[in-house]
Order: sequence, then structure tokens, then C-alpha cells
Amino acid sequence: MGKEVASALGRWFVLNDYPLKVVLKAVCDINKEALKWYEQIPTIDLLTTDYKALLDSSNVDVVYVALSHHLHEEYYLKVLEAGKDLFAEKPFGINLEAAKIIKNKIDESGRFVRCSSEMPFFPGGQRVIKEILSGRLGKVIEVKAGFCHSSDMDPFKPINWKRQSKFCGDIGVMGDLGMHVMHIPLRMGWKPDRVYAQLQKIVTKRPDGKGGWSECDTWNNAHLSSTISIEGEEVPMLLEMKRLAPGETNSWFIEVLGTEGGVRYSTKDTKVLWTFNREKEQIWQRIDLGFQVPFPTITGGIFEPGFPDCFMQMLAAYFAEREGFLEGRLGCVTPEEAVMSHQVFDAALKSHQSKSAIVIP
Ligand SMILES: NC(=O)c1ccc[n+]([C@@H]2O[C@H](COP(=O)([O-])OP(=O)(O)OC[C@H]3O[C@@H](n4cnc5c(N)ncnc54)[C@H](O)[C@@H]3O)[C@@H](O)[C@H]2O)c1
Repeated sequence: MGKEVASALGRWFVLNDYPLKVVLKAVCDINKEALKWYEQIPTIDLLTTDYKALLDSSNVDVVYVALSHHLHEEYYLKVLEAGKDLFAEKPFGINLEAAKIIKNKIDESGRFVRCSSEMPFFPGGQRVIKEILSGRLGKVIEVKAGFCHSSDMDPFKPINWKRQSKFCGDIGVMGDLGMHVMHIPLRMGWKPDRVYAQLQKIVTKRPDGKGGWSECDTWNNAHLSSTISIEGEEVPMLLEMKRLAPGETNSWFIEVLGTEGGVRYSTKDTKVLWTFNREKEQIWQRIDLGFQVPFPTITGGIFEPGFPDCFMQMLAAYFAEREGFLEGRLGCVTPEEAVMSHQVFDAALKSHQSKSAIVIP
């Protein structure tokens, strides 16, 4: 993901009237080969395999850390101890305990920290938030949100760290996709009170890339049936995180249904927002969205947005919030929200094991 950040910062000039210039100055990777790609970026002064050199650099104010999940706690803490601000990756520690340790360190250090989750920065995600906040939905009946991948449908896809619990975490697919799913619900104040989870290990062996086979011990798919509280009423919220979802390349979706209206968006049909109105006849209407992003760019309003665009919008939100000009726009996932998401995933593990609903404190 380091390359995605480099790509967004490399075309920062497309942001119209954005009052801050953000420049990539240093990159660290223990793999020398991985560093080679960054040699083409003229703003970089330091390419290193030694994280201490990066953290010692007085040119660096903010560090983005994209490492396998078992390394999050160690390196997030090092960044904070070096007095730098942090843009963290999900799932923000390998488990709930790690997330709490990171959160405590942030509170102690006073550094500005947010966590990555770019999908809500698609125009469709932004419009879903607007619809929810508009009050047009009436009394909320139910919420569904999810993130579905299909590349693991290929049983011959070689194993990597994301398919092994010791690197990815016991929460498996929830750690990989869950933060994206929970960002909008948590920001709307919809933290589940309890959860009933069904977790699946479907493909349990994968080629090891050396002619043999390795155990793939992570949860592939997670169905979470949770209960949220809205204006004192219990409302069901279904959350799906799947690595084996036939035909779904990278489908992030959210649907909120109410007594007066509804809203539905999926990146599968990137431009399309569906809104529901309860009138004399009940109408679902399809709206073709253009490039309506929170931080306007040179791209015209009729054009289609893509993954690099929402990734850039997320970074623009990070720096805007850090500098105090977010002005009511959606901010990135906060450390509190990251810990909450871990509480949900931890409860889901317990729920699956006990085959019962678990109350989330
Ligand atoms: N926001 C998103 O959409 C998104 C997408 C994919 C991954 N991620 C997250 O990004 C993080 C990294 O995932 P990835 O797909 O980029 O992984 P990756 O395996 O592609 O990249 C990790 C890099 O870290 C390097 N590395 C390993 N140990 C290191 C160390 N001690 N010091 C310095 N460099 C080291 C590796 O050489 C590798 O180049 C994870 O937290 C993952 O969940 C986020």
C-alpha cells in the first residue's frame, strides 16, 4: 500500500485550492528490491532499509505504516515514541489487546493518529452519509454493510502473510476488510451492543510457492448479525466480510433502510446511488453520480471516480483534520473507532466459538 500513498502524494497538485502541500520525503522497507520502485520519485531524500533512519529524519512529520498485522503494535509505538504523527493501517494492531495498547500510547503521546479506510470517500459513500444525516430515512429499519472479495476463490493462489493467523491475526478476514465495513456505521454512532457471528474456514491449504502446500488457517468469511441502538430502539445491522464471495472483485457496500426512505450503494456499480422514497407509490431511484468528492480536484464533475481517487481523498481528509480545516467533512477512522471495531471482531470470535450472541461492553 506504500505505492498507493506515493501515487496520491505524487499528484497532490490535482487538489483544487487545498491549502497544504504534502510531499513524500522518505521510504523504508526491509526489502531492498521493494525500495527500487521509489527511486523514480524525485521528492524522496531517503530510501532506507533501517526504520530508525526514517524516524530520525527531521524532514519527516507524518509516518504511514503499512506492515503485516503482527508488526503494527511494535512499529506504531516506535513512530509515536519518535515524536511523529501516524497514519496507521487497518486493523490497527493484530487484536483487541494490541489496539488498546496503541490507543493508550496515542493518548499519552498526544500525537495525531488516524487509520486508513478509503471506501467511504467514494462519492457514493459520501452520499450515503448525507442521506443518513438528512433525516429523510425516517425510523431506521435495518442496516447492511459489507466488503466482499473473490480472489481467494482460486484454490491455487499461493499463501501469503494475510492467510496465516500468526501474521494476519486470529480475526482473519475481519482484520483485513472489517475496518472498511465499520467506518460509516461507527461514525454514525452505530456501535453494536451485541453480535452473533458465523465464521468460515473454507480453503484451508494453499500452495506455498515452493512446490508444496501450506496451512491456510485464517477465517475466510465472516457474517456478523449485530444489534445497534438508534434513538432507544434496537435495530439489526448485518455485517459481511468475505474473501470467498463468487464474482466480487472488491465490492464494498452499505444499505440503510428506513420507514420513509432508504439508501444503497455498492462499488460494484461505482457510479450508482440508489435512494428509496415512500410516496403513494414506493420508488427506488437510480442516480448516476459523478466526481462529487469532499476535496475537489481538477477532474470534472461528470467523470467517474476510482480507487486511487478515493485513496487520495482519504489522505486529503487526514491532513485536513490534522491541520484543522476538515470543516464538517468525513474524517479518517479515529483510534477510538479502531478499538471499537476490534471489540466487535473479538466478540465475533467468542460468538462463533460459543454459538451464542455476545454482549459488547
Ligand atoms: N487500505 C487498504 O485498502 C489496504 C489494502 C491492502 C492492505 N492494507 C493494509 O496495509 C498493511 C500492509 O499490507 P500490504 O498489502 O501493503 O502488505 P505487503 O506485504 O504488500 O507490504 C508490506 C511491506 O512491508 C515490508 N516490510 C516487512 N517487514 C518490514 C519491516 N520490519 N520494516 C520495514 N518494512 C517491512 C515488506 O518488505 C513489504 O514490502 C496491512 O495492515 C494491510 O491490512 C490496506
